[in-house]
Amino acid sequence: MSKAIRFYEIGGPEVLKLENVEVGDPGPGEVRIKHTFTAVNFIDVYYRTGFYPTALPNGLGSDAVGVVEAIGPDVTEVKVGQRVGYLMGPLGAYATERVIPARFLIPLPDEVTDRTAATLMMKGMTAQYLFRQVYPLKGGETILYHAAAGGVGLIACQWAKAMGVKMIGTVSTDEKAALAKANGCEHVIVTSRENIVDRVKEITDGVGVPVVYDSVGKDTLDASLSCLSIRGTLVSNGTSSGPVIIDAHQLALKGSLSVTRPAMAHFIQPRSHMLSMANEVFEMVKSGKIVSEPKQIYSLADAAEAHRALESRATTGATVLVP
Ligand SMILES: NC(=O)c1ccc[n+]([C@@H]2O[C@H](COP(=O)([O-])OP(=O)(O)OC[C@H]3O[C@@H](n4cnc5c(N)ncnc54)[C@H](OP(=O)(O)O)[C@@H]3O)[C@@H](O)[C@H]2O)c1
Repeated sequence: MSKAIRFYEIGGPEVLKLENVEVGDPGPGEVRIKHTFTAVNFIDVYYRTGFYPTALPNGLGSDAVGVVEAIGPDVTEVKVGQRVGYLMGPLGAYATERVIPARFLIPLPDEVTDRTAATLMMKGMTAQYLFRQVYPLKGGETILYHAAAGGVGLIACQWAKAMGVKMIGTVSTDEKAALAKANGCEHVIVTSRENIVDRVKEITDGVGVPVVYDSVGKDTLDASLSCLSIRGTLVSNGTSSGPVIIDAHQLALKGSLSVTRPAMAHFIQPRSHMLSMANEVFEMVKSGKIVSEPKQIYSLADAAEAHRALESRATTGATVLVP
């Protein structure tokens, strides 16, 4: 019998229930996948808590890897037996197997294991789109990146290093600082005992940085704006600490700053573009520039525990569930 995590109400991790589910045959344009790993992302917390509205009851998770078990009529993207991954799929990745439209699937190269791929679909693709599309880096810049030891963060550290970009990363503990440094982060600010703005000004000789990638949101907004150089850009790409409300007048006062609030869904269209983004991520892994493995592995039944760990800042790097 297939199993899936479902939730019937908005709330804390305890609303996540493991259930037996019937997974039917794929219809036109659909495939059935048996998952090998499901990735846990902060966006899953946003759905569970109602920050992103969704119909209830529902499944959870939009990012997983596995093997194609069956294909419906008119599927051209993948074949039975093929290893695949996906991101931003319909909710329901917290499951042993599922049916999903084939257009979401990304074939996995032989050189990239399922374990590694499970850390790349959402998180590697996020590093790609932040650094190569949203605010494209040229190499040589000094940037500020929050949550540098997180799931996206550890990949971002390595990607920045590979591009010749000096990353100033923020983390909450000394253990996370050591991990971010080991992954290529040039300067690390430990937020529990250091002032972000003072340290960034010190490192940049008072100039500030041209771009801040801020996934923490509410708690770091003011510091992020104060760390930017004149005409700098805030990439507000997440809200781990709470929502961001921007006062446009402050942008003028602090140096004619720009703000962008990108969402992955708009950067993986059309499908051909998503595949070329994925290819770039895979090449970074194949060339050895990025090494990525899950740091926390939970069973599907323990999804609530995985959420508690992620929300309480107890995790580093990627967290995955084994269905
Ligand atoms: N816009 C997009 O398309 C997109 C795509 C993917 C991810 N994201 C965003 O990127 C961020 C990272 O995602 P992830 O899944 O890799 O998570 P993560 O970075 O592994 O976990 C979040 C980290 O944020 C830091 N943090 C600071 N204040 C926090 C608070 N009040 N509560 C929880 N965490 C806090 C913690 O690191 P420290 O303890 O070191 O501070 C924590 O480990 C999330 O905000 C996510 O929504 C956005």
